[in-house]
Amino acid sequence: MYPLHPCWSCCCLLLFFSLGVQEVPKEPSAAPEQIHLSYSGEPGSMTVTWTTWVPTDSEVQFGVQLTGPLTFRAQGTVSPFVDGGHLRRKLYIHRVTLQGLLPGIQYVYRCGSTQGWSRRFRFRALKNEPYWSPRLAVFGDMGTENPKALPRLRRDTQQGMYDAVLHVGDFAYDMHQDNARIGDAFMRLIEPVAASLPYMTCPGNHEERYNFSNYKARFSMPGDNEGLWYSWDLGPAHIISFSTEVYFFLHYGRHMVERQFHWLERDLQKANENRANRPWIITMGHRPMYCSNADLDDCTWHESKVRKGLFGKLFGLEDLFYKYGVDLELWAHEHSYERLWPIYNYRVFNGSREMPYNNPRGPVHIITGSAGCEERLTRFTLFPRPWSAVRVKEYGYTRLHILNGTHMHIQQVSDDQDGKIVDDVWVVRPLLNRMMYL
Ligand SMILES: *[C@@H]1O[C@H](CO)[C@@H](O)[C@H](O)[C@H]1NC(C)=O
Ligand SMILES: *[C@@H]1O[C@H](CO)[C@@H](O)[C@H](O)[C@H]1NC(C)=O
Ligand SMILES: *[C@@H]1O[C@H](CO)[C@@H](O)[C@H](O)[C@H]1NC(C)=O
Ligand SMILES: [Fe+2]
Repeated sequence: MYPLHPCWSCCCLLLFFSLGVQEVPKEPSAAPEQIHLSYSGEPGSMTVTWTTWVPTDSEVQFGVQLTGPLTFRAQGTVSPFVDGGHLRRKLYIHRVTLQGLLPGIQYVYRCGSTQGWSRRFRFRALKNEPYWSPRLAVFGDMGTENPKALPRLRRDTQQGMYDAVLHVGDFAYDMHQDNARIGDAFMRLIEPVAASLPYMTCPGNHEERYNFSNYKARFSMPGDNEGLWYSWDLGPAHIISFSTEVYFFLHYGRHMVERQFHWLERDLQKANENRANRPWIITMGHRPMYCSNADLDDCTWHESKVRKGLFGKLFGLEDLFYKYGVDLELWAHEHSYERLWPIYNYRVFNGSREMPYNNPRGPVHIITGSAGCEERLTRFTLFPRPWSAVRVKEYGYTRLHILNGTHMHIQQVSDDQDGKIVDDVWVVRPLLNRMMYL
């Protein structure tokens, strides 16, 4: 061993010190990050949710002028969230609901506290009445790695193409991974979209860990059920989000299946009482009742738990949704896009052979889970069943334009083909007698 020259050790120390300084993680920081919006379900509202690494106040400053001072202020709450991983990382989740927003008006906001503010973001307040034409981006299964749809979604968002996003389960892959750092990375990744548009969600199987704790903590959905199931009105539509996962992770409580089922039935009854006002009933849930992918998933087999319920008979949803005349059922989980002919109990109920989606006599199903994740795309079986109308094994997402109470436009965007529309269909139903499929 040679003693080091004093200068050497000095250099080493300096080097070590400077590396050390660079390696100090961003946390703990009072600066807001992972900023995203959601609709609270109350007319004229919007909820802003974000994360800090130390407890701070929760304030949103907002206004209608693009530059200059932000004249309005709203306060909210902060709640600590401790991830279940061995590091027990602690996040502070802030929630502020803005109220009294003027419908259709664009707002500028920033969030944080005197200890640190976010940059400014913009959003448009949702309109409350039924007579307008909302546009949605719909997809599931988007991860932190390989999120193929995200760049285009971001451009679409900047161009003001949408009023809301529906993310139909499976986020980040998975939010709890690496002591929930993957969840942080994902929430930062979607911020350019989710801080500008209400980002509405439902849980998928990838959120299951620690009883869906990351999902429940990070999102702020309408109602008081931790975002597991809820509904909201958007223009001519009533949108119901629910958890297919209650059928699969029974160790978190079989009572969840029953509670959700009864809530769904009650909500569908209320939606039908209000159907003259909001004619469309749209559901979103993660695992589909039908699919024709070549994997071992539930829908590949004849008795899907979501469709037929536990033991093939308890709390199945196909009968319920059919009985209450649900128009459109949005699913994901399979990493592909599939559209079905109007269907009930494996039978196709086209409106007519020429115009299957004009006065369909059963719900229309769309499975859209190809936004991109580390698991890549899912193959289809060689021979589709007669109920499968269109199958696309390409990365992409769905655009849903709810034109008015009778006309709805569905398009599938392919990211593999640089934004080309690879499926395009109108669903048309009469204004009245929507509850019964006959
Ligand atoms: C899981 O969470 C739900 C509420 O989100 C709760 O009702 C249920 O009891 C929990 N299950 C367990 C096993 O803790
Ligand atoms: C439904 O309509 C499509 C498109 O016209 C047709 O290919 C299919 O055979 C029809 N199915 C039934 C059962 O009528
Ligand atoms: C909805 O829009 C379509 C297409 O423009 C139109 O033909 C239809 O009459 C409209 N329906 C209602 C209820 O306004
Ligand atoms: Fe899934």
